[in-house]
Amino acid sequence: MNKQPIGIFDSGVGGLTVFKEIRKRFPNEDIVYFGDTARVPYGPKSPRTVVDFSIQNARFLIQSGAKIIIVACNTSSAVALEHLESILKVPVIGVIKPGARAAVSRTKSGKIGIIGTQGTIKSEAYTRAITELNPDIVVYGKSCPLFVPLVEEGWEDHSVAGMIIEEYLSPLLEKQIDVLVLGCTHYPILKDAISRITGNSIELIDSAEAVITDLEGILKTEKSPGKDFFYVSDNEEKFRLIASRILEKEIIELQRIKLGESWYID
Ligand code: DGL
Repeated sequence: MNKQPIGIFDSGVGGLTVFKEIRKRFPNEDIVYFGDTARVPYGPKSPRTVVDFSIQNARFLIQSGAKIIIVACNTSSAVALEHLESILKVPVIGVIKPGARAAVSRTKSGKIGIIGTQGTIKSEAYTRAITELNPDIVVYGKSCPLFVPLVEEGWEDHSVAGMIIEEYLSPLLEKQIDVLVLGCTHYPILKDAISRITGNSIELIDSAEAVITDLEGILKTEKSPGKDFFYVSDNEEKFRLIASRILEKEIIELQRIKLGESWYID
């Protein structure tokens, strides 16, 4: 492992929550981030399509010199991680297993809630990862498809956010869960609004933070300050705008790239 960059991909801007944690913990690593803004959202798409997109995204990062691939997108991690591991020669880290490990270590009641996109919840990847660690734990999943547009609209503190969160979460709250996994890149941005509904007795697990432990086991300490490179497949300006909110700073290196075949002539 040398001064090659860490590669991170997501379906769009949400994976910047993972980027932010990694940048904080590894200030000297170069990072290449790819957000597939032309094809977001992945959540409602079929596993086959998400696998296909994920392979293209990872290949782009490998071409950019990535020494390790972080699959920041929960939907991709849920359905494409094994495919990526089988075809790539570099280590691949998804967000599901780290999130599951953190959740299992925190629950006392043995009842864990998972929220994510339709694709993530339907895949039952979190349930499998959790019950592999402890088969006695009961897992309750709930997809919350309106959370992503809420965040993209910048409405995390808007009054409608509270109503929508309450509507989605009330079936989980009835199950007496004591841990809730925020199983989607965008949900950490709703953390305060979610905790206002869930209260103090439910611990929220942010997979973005959980990934750090896995990375610590792999990366050596770099000495010189790390650089950031951002690529998207569409809508640079929207990405720039939301990124400045999530990262609390302006991003400089941002470029649009095309993946796969295209019939569109620029
Ligand atoms: N990045 C996706 C995830 O974490 C959320 C947005 C989407 O549906 O593409 O599952």
